[in-house]
Amino acid sequence: MDRNLALNLARVTEAAALGAAKYMGRGDKNIADQAAVDGMRKMFDTINIDGVVVIGEGEMDEAPMLYIGEKIGRGGEADLAVDIAVDPLDGTVLIAKGLPNAIAVVAIAPRGHLLNAPDMYMDKIAVGPKAKGVVDLNAPIQENLKNVAKALNKNITDLTVIMLDRERHEGMVAACREVGARIKLFQDGDVAAAIATCFDHTGIDIMIGIGGAPEGVIAAAALKCLGGEFQGKLVAYTEEEKARCIQMGVDVNKVYGLDDLVKGNEAFFAATGISDGDLLKGVTYYGNNMARTHSVVMRAETGTIRFIEAIHRLDSKPEYAK
Ligand code: FBP
Repeated sequence: MDRNLALNLARVTEAAALGAAKYMGRGDKNIADQAAVDGMRKMFDTINIDGVVVIGEGEMDEAPMLYIGEKIGRGGEADLAVDIAVDPLDGTVLIAKGLPNAIAVVAIAPRGHLLNAPDMYMDKIAVGPKAKGVVDLNAPIQENLKNVAKALNKNITDLTVIMLDRERHEGMVAACREVGARIKLFQDGDVAAAIATCFDHTGIDIMIGIGGAPEGVIAAAALKCLGGEFQGKLVAYTEEEKARCIQMGVDVNKVYGLDDLVKGNEAFFAATGISDGDLLKGVTYYGNNMARTHSVVMRAETGTIRFIEAIHRLDSKPEYAK
């Protein structure tokens, strides 16, 4: 795929972040999400791709834009046929409350390369490159922690596990505490948490727990670019969800590895911070209708990771006109 697509993807997540950040702390997650969707959708129109949304804002009848199956881009004969996975605002509640770690994300891969994951839960495990190959989602948590500690040459008591702060994780929390691992619970946004395992400065060694399956596919694209490891298993709580899995041709008993979630080595991933986070700074608005964004773009084929700090003169961009 054209490597310059990476920069265009940063434009797409920047647009989502600039939209959502306007609504930080206003207590309304839906309005912030809508602004992110609007910004992202508009910017996609400027890219020469023949894209189809495989992970998006929901089914066509639930979401007017960025719905699953929506065609994106010019779609000309010479344009790349790609799958698109989006989460214009991962952490809607975070933004509504003005809390850290909300990001706008997008992943792209050649057509048919991203798993069409249903909108349900997924049990996940993610580690950075140094612990790649030593975890197994089907193994007991304590065994995974022991193996990760060994791979990182750390005592298990120095290991930091990151996990969504949810009641459903009580058993996992207890298992980590029993072996003395440190735990960082977070309120929302498990894409950013999975990515954090790949950057030493975050101090995070492993992410475990149940979050959204769509977010799992997006995180997998990032971890593929970063050389980390991600495994996910769908969690179907209801008969309806089980039926949905069968209809979509996905297996609830299977541990999906990186290559099942994101086939091949041609994925791109981009994220822009909306509120300040471990990896990315959030959007700052300045006087004279200017703003600064902080993004990361990655390409699986080469493993290049670019951080992009951009100053936007919003008055001179028609897509940001008030
Ligand atoms: P939203 O931005 O859609 O609110 O998702 C935030 C999030 O924390 C995801 O990152 C995570 O995968 C999912 O919600 C977890 O779901 P739940 O809040 O139902 O536990």
